[in-house]
Amino acid sequence: MNTLSPVITIDGPTASGKGTVAHRVATALGWGVLDSGALYRLTALSVLQHEIDPEDSQAVARAGQQLEVSFHPQGVALFGREVSEVIRQEHVGNLASRLAPNPALRQALLERQRAFRIAPGLVADGRDMGTIVFKDASLKIFLVADARARAERRCKQLIDKGISANLDDLVADMRERDARDIERAVAPLVPAPDAHVVDSSQLTIEQTVQNVLDLWSRVLPTPPAKV
Ligand code: DC
Repeated sequence: MNTLSPVITIDGPTASGKGTVAHRVATALGWGVLDSGALYRLTALSVLQHEIDPEDSQAVARAGQQLEVSFHPQGVALFGREVSEVIRQEHVGNLASRLAPNPALRQALLERQRAFRIAPGLVADGRDMGTIVFKDASLKIFLVADARARAERRCKQLIDKGISANLDDLVADMRERDARDIERAVAPLVPAPDAHVVDSSQLTIEQTVQNVLDLWSRVLPTPPAKV
């Protein structure tokens, strides 16, 4: 692991657009990307597939430790099977949010996340990227958007995929999940003290990406002055 590779962290609540923004920023910079939420979703899927009791924190942590995951440009495979679509389903996301406060699981996923930090750089998105996993990140973004704006985006995504969705249910679900992520004792969803808070409620994805790239250009080390 190259501990000197730069990291940009993008934390924020569910459906704030952080995944899309992280991918686009990574593409613009030619860097790698870590979707840490996918690791929690993959753990949830493994718990479901192996019929593990979600209340059994040690068994859940073992499931996280034993995940055989391969990320590839089109998505992600778990134990050799393509699961990109299934881990995006609401019931998997909800279970991931219920499992996420488990300290043993978080510990089990920590090194796996840090291993993504390789040259030339990493854009990592999640909840605790700037507060815990990459505390020394060069730039920390906390991406927010109000619950209705996020629910509308999620609703559109689901309908585009041919999945029926109810906006009011999605707003309620967003609020419930936010409360669980914010109020949990372990690695709660809070901005790092040195994070830049970006509100994307009224911004397009392109504007949000540009915002992050502008912030990055300001933290880039200044080349030595020519004499
Ligand atoms: O970002 P997402 O919606 O894919 O994440 C799914 C759940 O995983 C989320 O509700 C909380 C948990 N999570 C976490 O606790 N820490 C992270 N770094 C990323 C996700």
